[in-house]
Amino acid sequence: MPGDKSITHRAFLFGAMASGVTTIDGASSGDDCASTRRCLVSLGVSFEDGPAPGLLQVHGGAPFARPITRLDCGNSGTTLRLLMGVLAASDFESELGGDASLNRRPMERVAAPLRLMGARIETTGGSPPVHVTGSKLRGASVTPEAASAQIKSAILLAALQAEGRTTVREPVLTRDHTERMIRAFGGEIRREGADIVVEGPQHLRAARLQVPGDPSSAAPFVIAALLLPDSEVTIEGVLLNPHRIRYLDILRDMGARIETEITSSDVEPSGRITARSSDLRGVTLSPLDVPAVVDELPILAVAGAFAAGRFEVRGASELRVKESDRIASMVEGLGAMGARIEELADGFSVQGGHRLTGAPVDSHGDHRIAMALSVAALRATGETDVSGAEVVSISLPGFFPELERGAGR
Ligand code: S3P
Repeated sequence: MPGDKSITHRAFLFGAMASGVTTIDGASSGDDCASTRRCLVSLGVSFEDGPAPGLLQVHGGAPFARPITRLDCGNSGTTLRLLMGVLAASDFESELGGDASLNRRPMERVAAPLRLMGARIETTGGSPPVHVTGSKLRGASVTPEAASAQIKSAILLAALQAEGRTTVREPVLTRDHTERMIRAFGGEIRREGADIVVEGPQHLRAARLQVPGDPSSAAPFVIAALLLPDSEVTIEGVLLNPHRIRYLDILRDMGARIETEITSSDVEPSGRITARSSDLRGVTLSPLDVPAVVDELPILAVAGAFAAGRFEVRGASELRVKESDRIASMVEGLGAMGARIEELADGFSVQGGHRLTGAPVDSHGDHRIAMALSVAALRATGETDVSGAEVVSISLPGFFPELERGAGR
């Protein structure tokens, strides 16, 4: 798997903020991380590819330059939201926007807590374009309105540049890559119960980072191996951070034969995942599990559609404000293929074990939906046409060649 998307975004941003030359090995090759890199280049940061294949260097620590045009974050919510935290403390005005999907997504959830720290931010009816007037920030106590690593990370990036103590209350844990990266860049951050505490301002120093493979990109291959007869897939060098591989525990609860082995523990743990054909049974997910599987719920829905019994998730209304409304997109796509799937206000319920038939389906411009429906198509009878499937390049440009290789074509 190419490098993890969440970690790559952060490696680029921290590399740009830290003084010195940061070396990154194995960055994600997807379009979303290219958006973060492009925005940072517009802010005057220089990136250099090499010297060896897969390596790149970020020359960081210089004050950011005022961008000449609106920063184009493409399809990437992580780029836009994390940059709001970075730019809130700048000494210039900037504007952030993206494609039609990103320009529909909620941004007040990030702007409001940053305003408590003294940030001057205006959204457009709650969404991008977002206008940021850089200002002096002060620490604050913040409780994000959703269990979201993006909101938390934007606040932490601002907190590193603010005067005084910032506390982020996080009752339900979300992915902790930002916290790990602050430490890797020589910063200080601590957890006190449900609170994360940062004292600012802090000076970050360049680091050498190895980005492990993306477990969210691995998920469609793991589930394809479980669903297809006589299959076995091994994925090496993949991120095994517990916040990111809860989907493997859920699949094991469904009867999946999956093994993991940690082979390296640097800033992040990584290692091997092996998955074999399995007979699956449906489960009901706890709403508390949702933040840890928010990116894998579309592909878990596919596993659920082929499992015996009912697979259900509630408390997942966050899915409605992702790259597409992922509840509606999966209900439509799997429904068109004959799955007995029911849309709930905050989730979905699928009665598994029925044959699926190939059908024309739509990615809705969402990379995770395109991959999930393509894996469903492998187990369905007949041909499935996934329209807009090229959007897989957002996170995994090599998805289809790799899937064909695994399917033995
Ligand atoms: C991400 C966090 C998640 C995830 C997104 C990447 C991150 O979003 O869906 O793809 O890198 O912090 P939320 O935590 O905001 O739900």
